Amino acid sequence: MNQKLIAPSLLAADFGNLQRDVEMVNNSEADWHHIDVMDGVFVPNISYGMPVIKAITKHATKPLDVHLMIVEPDRYIDTFAELGANILTVHYEACTHLHRTLQAIKAAKMKAGVALNPHTPIHLLEDIIQDIDLVCLMSVNPGFGGQSFIKNTYPKVSDLKDLIIKKNSNALIEIDGGVNSDNAKSLVDSGADVLVAGSFVFKSEHPNRTIQGLKQIIA
Ligand code: DX5
Ligand code: ZN
Repeated sequence: MNQKLIAPSLLAADFGNLQRDVEMVNNSEADWHHIDVMDGVFVPNISYGMPVIKAITKHATKPLDVHLMIVEPDRYIDTFAELGANILTVHYEACTHLHRTLQAIKAAKMKAGVALNPHTPIHLLEDIIQDIDLVCLMSVNPGFGGQSFIKNTYPKVSDLKDLIIKKNSNALIEIDGGVNSDNAKSLVDSGADVLVAGSFVFKSEHPNRTIQGLKQIIA
């Protein structure tokens, strides 16, 4: 894919002004809405659940990129399809029967994503990469926004890109955690297709312009 995408993470939005922040993303050059779901078990934090996601989807006009940081994600696949998720990403570390989970996501008419924690090696995807629409490489330990980017992500992006080419997969590479204007260019040069950015966008003075700036950097 040639066009590189930006997916602002609403985890860093102002929840007291959620509609405003969703509309900011609608009216920006961003490509997707990134929605982080945390259960307090798979990760040591709880973000938001179905009623809040419903409020987001009511106003969102761009594809919904839902990142599940939860155990046993199979239990909620149909619920997220009903909520309007376009891409549903589960964690490799949370799925005992990953192939079955990915098939269930596709059967529910969503794109199937797999996220890898920073310590999880790329080669574990060798026998499943052809069934994946998106691989989300975590560049921080999942659970919180605002953490520092882990530099070991760069060689992982290159290794993943090689695997995707070798296996003739169509998977997109998404990077999630600590993305900013300092690492965005190197990430897309290494092979990334989609950059998630939370704090860097929403904690900036002009989020709309920050998104525009990121798009220019990766164009
Ligand atoms: C982390 C989440 C990320 C997070 C990114 O567990 O998956 O999507 O919101 O936030 P920043 O960009 O602040 O690292
Ligand atoms: Zn995320």
